[in-house]
Amino acid sequence: MKNKLYFKLKNKKVQEEAFIAIKKEQKTIGYYALPEQDISSILTYSETIPDTIENIAVIGIGGSSLGAKAIYEFIKPTKKLKRKLYFFESTDPLNITTLLSKLNLKKTHFLVISKSGTTIETFSIYKYIYSLQNNPKVYTFITDPGSPLEKYAQEIGATVLYLPKNVGGRFSVLSTVGLVPLALSGINIQALLDGANKLKKSFFGAGYMKDTLLKKAVFYARHHMQYNINCIFAYSETLKYFCEWYVQLWGESLGKRQHHSAFHVGLTPIGLIGPKDQHSFLQLIMEGTRNKSVTFIKIEDFQDEIVIPDISLPHLESLDSLNTLPFSKLINMQCESVIEALLEEDIPLDSITISQVNESNMGALMYYYELLTSLVGELIDINTYDQPGVETGKHILKKKLTSLSR
Ligand code: PA5
Repeated sequence: MKNKLYFKLKNKKVQEEAFIAIKKEQKTIGYYALPEQDISSILTYSETIPDTIENIAVIGIGGSSLGAKAIYEFIKPTKKLKRKLYFFESTDPLNITTLLSKLNLKKTHFLVISKSGTTIETFSIYKYIYSLQNNPKVYTFITDPGSPLEKYAQEIGATVLYLPKNVGGRFSVLSTVGLVPLALSGINIQALLDGANKLKKSFFGAGYMKDTLLKKAVFYARHHMQYNINCIFAYSETLKYFCEWYVQLWGESLGKRQHHSAFHVGLTPIGLIGPKDQHSFLQLIMEGTRNKSVTFIKIEDFQDEIVIPDISLPHLESLDSLNTLPFSKLINMQCESVIEALLEEDIPLDSITISQVNESNMGALMYYYELLTSLVGELIDINTYDQPGVETGKHILKKKLTSLSR
């Protein structure tokens, strides 16, 4: 993975302070250690799911579903996978009914994933599915030790797997939460972790990623008042759900009240897909308020060389320069052209290039974003890992639910 920064930053002292803080944080925050974990118990568990199972349905929301979905949707177009993954993440009745209509329940295993074990969306959906299929053997539950869900799963005699200690929901993709569904689908989870580990070593071992990530984090933190909207502009449809994962990670981690201060701060994530969004959001970046930074993500080798045919269309001869061009080249030329256009406007930007669509590159990319989030959180002086702001709405809903007269 290559990361080219188009902005300059000199302050070494702030960078070094952030690095020391993050190194210290490894003692208390669980996600940092995930790339080195031993996955043998996950692989042993995967072997217990019979080959007759063709579908894996995840019931979970937020950090309990977005990471696995991002990786699955990234890898799916390039690899013949063993099983299909489905994600029940919404209380939208049409979505639940549509997803269920695609599943043969006899050939489906359900993974109910909830760290807290009490999430309303997850359990309303689970209750509905359980009313259609109440065999505990077709369910595996993933939760924190001691949660109400653990007790429930044990009561019905279903399998329970656990999250490692101190791993927050949105930082849990490389734990059981993401690895179990992905392993069941046939994705190479060891390669995923190896990619993340390579990036980790480059950062903590003072390699190329240390300097790059620190510079980028300091830039975001320093300019968080002016450039408070951070767009990812990914030039591949395979990265659509990666963008959703990024939006949750960045938004839920970095929108907070500062420690020892009355100020609310926040960086707003936007996920864009090129070239589609060149025909929509790009105008706002180019000519709108100067409050956005952009990170382009490119894939060097799509491993698909379909080519625009050598056909001249009457009255459209001006488009003949497209003839014989591989689509993979066209999309990257489009990305380069937009980068040049934004540079002319002095929009702060950087570009990440990944060599191919594979597990290792996605592991590295996700770990890169997790580290970046931790660094920026440290530099803007907030608690990156809590989410008090989402609690109020949940309490109000709970009150409404208990006062319902049916
Ligand atoms: O990052 C987080 O902590 C949240 O987005 C959670 O992942 C989300 O609320 C789901 O929670 P749970 O896994 O407890 O059901």
